[in-house]
Amino acid sequence: MTATEWHEASVDRWVVVTGAAGGIGAAVVQRLLDDGLEVVAVDLAVPDDGPGTGPDDDRIAWVAADLTTADGRAAVVAATEDRRLVGLVNVAGITRDARLVKMDDAAVAAVLAVNAQAPLDLSLALADRLVEGGAIVNISSRSHLGNFGQMNYATSKGAIIGTTIALSRSLAPRVRVNAIAPGLIATPMTDAMPDDVLAKVTAEVPLGRAGEPTEVAAEVAHLLSPDAAYTTGQVVYVCGGRSR
Ligand SMILES: NC(=O)c1ccc[n+]([C@@H]2O[C@H](COP(=O)([O-])OP(=O)(O)OC[C@H]3O[C@@H](n4cnc5c(N)ncnc54)[C@H](O)[C@@H]3O)[C@@H](O)[C@H]2O)c1
Repeated sequence: MTATEWHEASVDRWVVVTGAAGGIGAAVVQRLLDDGLEVVAVDLAVPDDGPGTGPDDDRIAWVAADLTTADGRAAVVAATEDRRLVGLVNVAGITRDARLVKMDDAAVAAVLAVNAQAPLDLSLALADRLVEGGAIVNISSRSHLGNFGQMNYATSKGAIIGTTIALSRSLAPRVRVNAIAPGLIATPMTDAMPDDVLAKVTAEVPLGRAGEPTEVAAEVAHLLSPDAAYTTGQVVYVCGGRSR
């Protein structure tokens, strides 16, 4: 796909976005629609509101699927049939935070299944369907560097970076694969944080505020586009400067 084709939107450009009903996922969906792309939006359930859930819009197709199951991933693959697939954005993710002494096996297994195994499995299932010049963007987290109470989450977000680098080599030069590591982003996930914890974390951000989901979505749009044609196997920190 040439840069001209991309920017002039002369052809369909479908992108699968997982976690599409969440804070960052919905912003990614809206940004891609605003840029003139088409979206297969995936989440556990189709939301009552959100991008493309209003009047019929033939540029968005919603799929309700649990991505930790083979059936769920098969439903996503089926939704891409007869659609020209240019991108996959793995956004779906969960937290099950606890101090190490209280973190049970189930909390580790659940987080690894959603944040690490599911995006790897979905990427492998869709890799052959992506057009030449297509791209995968994985949403990791700055937390892969290690946050108190997030051993399971940090492990999962480090794993998806390993997946990103390994897949970028396996799929080159046909498909690019990159990761974004957001820092603190204002979403329902962060709304759940106690006020004192949120204030402490915000104070550590050099830019002095939480990021907006639209600021992550802008980086996703960039990495999907031919403007990033020479970027693969990289991790982009969208974290207000708090990358270490
Ligand atoms: N909010 C932040 O500060 C922040 C920071 C760094 C990274 N992230 C990452 O960004 C991504 C989105 O986070 P968010 O803040 O928008 O969270 P969110 O909870 O608002 O959205 C996550 C979405 O993933 C969906 N999901 C969960 N399990 C799923 C499954 N098994 N199958 C399909 N969908 C599933 C949820 O239903 C939800 O809609 C996550 O991967 C998260 O780890 C968030």
